[in-house]
Amino acid sequence: MRIYDIIHKKRKGEELTDEEIKFFVSESVNGNIKDYQITALLMAICFNGMSARETSTLTIAMAESGDTVDLSSIDGYTVDKHSTGGVGDKTTLIVTPIVAALGGKVAKMSGRGLGHTGGTVDKLESIEGFRTTLSGNDFLNQVNKIGLCVVGQSGDLAPADKKFYALRNDTATVDCIPLIASSIMSKKLAAGSKGIVLDVKTGSGAFMKSVEESEALAKTMVEIGNAAGRDTVAVITNMDIPLGNAVGNSLEVIEAVETLKGNGCEDLTTVCIELASNMLTLVTGKDKATCVEMAKGAIADGSALNKLKEMVSEQGGNPEWISDTSLFPKAEHSFEIKAESDGYICSMDAEKIGVASLLLGAGRNTKEDVLDFSAGIILKAKTGDKVAKGETIATLYANDETKFESASQKFNEAVGFSTDPVEKQPLIYSVIREK
Ligand code: URA
Repeated sequence: MRIYDIIHKKRKGEELTDEEIKFFVSESVNGNIKDYQITALLMAICFNGMSARETSTLTIAMAESGDTVDLSSIDGYTVDKHSTGGVGDKTTLIVTPIVAALGGKVAKMSGRGLGHTGGTVDKLESIEGFRTTLSGNDFLNQVNKIGLCVVGQSGDLAPADKKFYALRNDTATVDCIPLIASSIMSKKLAAGSKGIVLDVKTGSGAFMKSVEESEALAKTMVEIGNAAGRDTVAVITNMDIPLGNAVGNSLEVIEAVETLKGNGCEDLTTVCIELASNMLTLVTGKDKATCVEMAKGAIADGSALNKLKEMVSEQGGNPEWISDTSLFPKAEHSFEIKAESDGYICSMDAEKIGVASLLLGAGRNTKEDVLDFSAGIILKAKTGDKVAKGETIATLYANDETKFESASQKFNEAVGFSTDPVEKQPLIYSVIREK
């Protein structure tokens, strides 16, 4: 078999066989295919697409290209969630304790933030002492003991994805549905859970800017998951504006804790209940309405908050910080952004707000950047809200005062005003399950 012939076949728009796809993945990982040939095939896939069978075969070959996590020693139904990335997205910190409090087994590997999006691992590390690196045995034992463990990605999971993603990033081949779907799902399949709930974001802060594109991506991922024997559901949610009011690591942990105490804002609470209840339908086999009530009940009776405290304590963190969030260190400086005229906020570009938070020190431009955990933004008004001239619409936080100039400029670019009332956008667009 020759990679030249495979590239030529896809360039002509023909379907590749399973053997050809498996050869491409394994020989790329083994270093036997040149980067320019990998890139040529990825580009041909961008132009000519892939059938459902080709995409499934590609994903499974990528999932099997390195280590896979064996969760068979976990007693109970293992369930994972994944978000396609967003700004202010602290849902993992809220949803996973809800599901674990109700009997789901959540063995989760999360990522760090890069660019305008945050990462769960960074947020958890803003809690004093919290360890996001555990041995494989400690990871499994903790899930068996308390039903919940969230760590950073370890081992050599889906190395084919690492190789392809780096090349895609440099060659304008990221925004292609079969390639995004295989990239995300290869890592989820390798991570081992039986059930997978995907939060596919749509809007200005997301990869997919339209609902139609997000639904097409979601359908592809659900098909791949189910074909691989995993129970997969996708929820399409709004990422045109940041989720919740806090953007920045410890600010988001504090907001997550408040949400678990029942004091969360409406958009964040709604999205978390939607994700948690979909996970619970997989765990319990009960209908959605019952699972919604169960998820709300775990917030109301404090069991979800207790589960988060238990996880923090098991992973070396100080659970007092969850009971009393005033213990989180505060940024030394703050800066208020005020409305320049009376009117309504008509847009709030999530990506630009993510960049403003990064400029304050809460995010990374490169993997090596060191984070300022207490830096970030608290939104006081969001799209659709009426504001009066001089009213504070957001407070920026940083330990380095010089960062306010560029961050406030970026924040102001993100926000649009209108003199006419503006309709709020939907939070949940659709839920995609197997037909
Ligand atoms: N996230 C991934 O992991 N892969 C992609 O291709 C896009 C987003």
